[in-house]
Amino acid sequence: MQAFIEHLSKILEQRYILTQDEDKAPYLTDWRKRYIGKALAVLLPSTSDEVAAIVKLCAQNQVALVPQGGNTGFCGGATPDNSGKQVVLNLKRMNQIREIDIANQTITIEAGCILRALQEKALEHGFLFPLSLGAEGSCMIGGNLATNAGGTNVLRYGNARDLCLGLEVVTAKGEIWNGIKGLRKDNTGYDLRDLFIGSEGTLGIITAAVMKLYPLPVSQWTTLVACENIASTITLLNLFQKRASSLLTGFEMMTRESLDLNEKHFPHMANPLQGNSPFTVLIELSDHESEEHVRQLLETILEEAFEVKLISNAVIASNLTQANTFWHMREHITLAQAEEGANLKHDITIPLSSLDSFIQQTDALMRDKFPGVRIINFGHLGDGNLHYNIAPPLGVDPKIFNETNERQIHELVYGQVERCKGSISAEHGVGQLKLDGLRAHKGEVAHELMRALKTALDPQNILNPHKVVSI
Ligand code: FAD
Ligand code: MLT
Ligand code: ZN
Repeated sequence: MQAFIEHLSKILEQRYILTQDEDKAPYLTDWRKRYIGKALAVLLPSTSDEVAAIVKLCAQNQVALVPQGGNTGFCGGATPDNSGKQVVLNLKRMNQIREIDIANQTITIEAGCILRALQEKALEHGFLFPLSLGAEGSCMIGGNLATNAGGTNVLRYGNARDLCLGLEVVTAKGEIWNGIKGLRKDNTGYDLRDLFIGSEGTLGIITAAVMKLYPLPVSQWTTLVACENIASTITLLNLFQKRASSLLTGFEMMTRESLDLNEKHFPHMANPLQGNSPFTVLIELSDHESEEHVRQLLETILEEAFEVKLISNAVIASNLTQANTFWHMREHITLAQAEEGANLKHDITIPLSSLDSFIQQTDALMRDKFPGVRIINFGHLGDGNLHYNIAPPLGVDPKIFNETNERQIHELVYGQVERCKGSISAEHGVGQLKLDGLRAHKGEVAHELMRALKTALDPQNILNPHKVVSI
């Protein structure tokens, strides 16, 4: 392998080839500290040509690559295995904005651009880039596309896939596919762009992308409301969809248990709504007409919701700072979970018509089989995307609890997801965490087609092997 490393130094400056343990360490553990890998080297290229040359060299030497962006993923997709033979290819140095096309309302950026930097660049030019998630200060657009990230604006603007018009990708052979086009229509055969999006670095390395921009809304209003049961939250969503239509840009559900956990670890994040209701919903409307228009609309819908007893309490943010506080409260749940210790995360989608049945039955089975477990639910209700999380009973060591029960708990949840015709991953992806889950629940034909695609595009199995599907 010495010759391989020497060859690398013809492609990258020595300081961008990390081989010392202390230099590699930050790249070898995932955000949740569930996975710790080893790597021959961590490589930091700054151009697509460098990425292509590295992949070619890896292909010649049968060295597997693990692409990495901000390393905020939840499924161990960006962590190498334990062999110490893989290389991590981190794209953070590829962070240039290549072009902003005002008339076409698009931005072309490199994969290592941090999501928040992209949002800020769009804002500078008077546009909205709507992808928004708790990790936006460190996740990168390449990682967002590779995982087809969701977040809090999906119900209005769609997920990362819906926001992408073109891609540049380095293939497993080390060729550069130039799909950098800002077209909203293109029916020339198979959609290669959509194949690479969501493939979690297993089919190609995304080096750049053309993303859609949107006009900035003139006003946004945010409210927190209290609901007594999940059925009411769904009827409330339908009411907002009917009355506000495309002005509805956020609809996030938080259970009492998730907000209690938040308050335990971040007392300043206490729920401003009195009453301690079982469900709190954060709703955002965005308007292109006027502040007055959207505020009136929000108040009218809330009045109707009170009248038909869908909500028992509501507070409208009186200014931007308070609106941000509501959003921070929602985003802090993930951080509170991390503070509390290891827990089992599920990012499922269920058709909204089956969500009530899913929760009732899964909760009952979970409490019966694992007495004392804490169910920490929250999620992007507007998309039917529930973060159904299981924490061990109070006082039980999370590590030991998870080691003993993880498989059974995942299977219980996935079984119920299948019963309700849902998906075991709405946004976090598969990585190594859900490799078995995907094999068991994707369906045999779909799973075989995925394996066939992987074999065709990466016959040497050098791109993020044993993530998503094994061949
Ligand atoms: P990484 O974690 O580095 O990589 C993720 C996967 O993509 C890996 O398989 C990796 O190999 C691959 N990859 C990375 N870059 C490339 C590339 N250039 N080419 C090919 N493959 C690549 N996710 C959501 O969807 N919605 C949320 O609301 C959300 N909230 C979060 C909140 C917090 C606090 C945290 C920590 C995470 C959250 N996530 C959420 C998960 C995570 O942020 C997303 O999955 C994000 O898209 C990952 O981006 P990244 O740059 O960190 O990718
Ligand atoms: C969220 O919705 O906050 C993210 O997906 C993170 C999480 O599930 O914890
Ligand atoms: Zn989420």
